[in-house]
Amino acid sequence: MRIAVIGSGNVGTGLAKSWSKLGHAVVVGSRSPESERLVHLVSGIGNGVSTAALAESVESADVIVLAIPWSAAEVSIAALGDLSGRLIIDATNPFVKGLDLGIGHTDSGGEQVARWAPGAKIVKALNIVDARLLDGKKLDDREITIPIASDDTDAKKVASDLIVELGFDVVDAGSLEMSRLLEPLTLLMIKLSMKKSLGNEIGFRVLRD
Ligand SMILES: NC(=O)c1ccc[n+]([C@@H]2O[C@H](COP(=O)([O-])OP(=O)(O)OC[C@H]3O[C@@H](n4cnc5c(N)ncnc54)[C@H](OP(=O)(O)O)[C@@H]3O)[C@@H](O)[C@H]2O)c1
Repeated sequence: MRIAVIGSGNVGTGLAKSWSKLGHAVVVGSRSPESERLVHLVSGIGNGVSTAALAESVESADVIVLAIPWSAAEVSIAALGDLSGRLIIDATNPFVKGLDLGIGHTDSGGEQVARWAPGAKIVKALNIVDARLLDGKKLDDREITIPIASDDTDAKKVASDLIVELGFDVVDAGSLEMSRLLEPLTLLMIKLSMKKSLGNEIGFRVLRD
């Protein structure tokens, strides 16, 4: 599958490494694709990963993943061009002022992304897992659960398959509106990790028979 990962930070790099190792064609969409940092980054990952400017990176992508800070989401999405009909995995969290949710209860980042990218098929996913675990690391010998939310069944299936390939357990959380619950869940995980000193090797898991 051709995957455009938008953003070359913790999440973008982690996903580019893991999916490219699995044989997917990954391009990292960046504001500065020709910078020394980006050239060094993609050559370090290998596996055919390339880098391109934002609009160019999504041209032939089957799946687009948003791995950018919330503060940069609107401008980055605009820079990608017309996204109608495209499958977007939104891994962002609408944090403002450090670790406060800027949207919640009656709206969510996932739904805001859908408004910024009209006609796109948005799947909220991968927002709750620490970037350092994106190689599908198991904890307590179990896969971490990634809840996913979308209004588009087919898009959800494609995203789910890609996330399962990474080594995660996927649970269907329902419609995109469920992002209202998935985004605060991230905050809980971060606060447990940082404020309660549980470290980055913690993950969410839905136990079921
Ligand atoms: N860190 C985690 O463990 C984690 C886990 C799950 C979800 N998330 C979410 O995923 C998103 C990305 O997190 P991250 O930790 O990967 O962030 P990050 O390390 O700060 O990287 C974000 C990337 O976004 C791009 N970008 C575009 N506009 C930007 C701007 N104005 N300022 C800074 N960077 C900009 C940059 O790539 P270019 O310079 O190449 O454009 C940058 O490398 C966030 O919404 C976060 O909440 C994070």
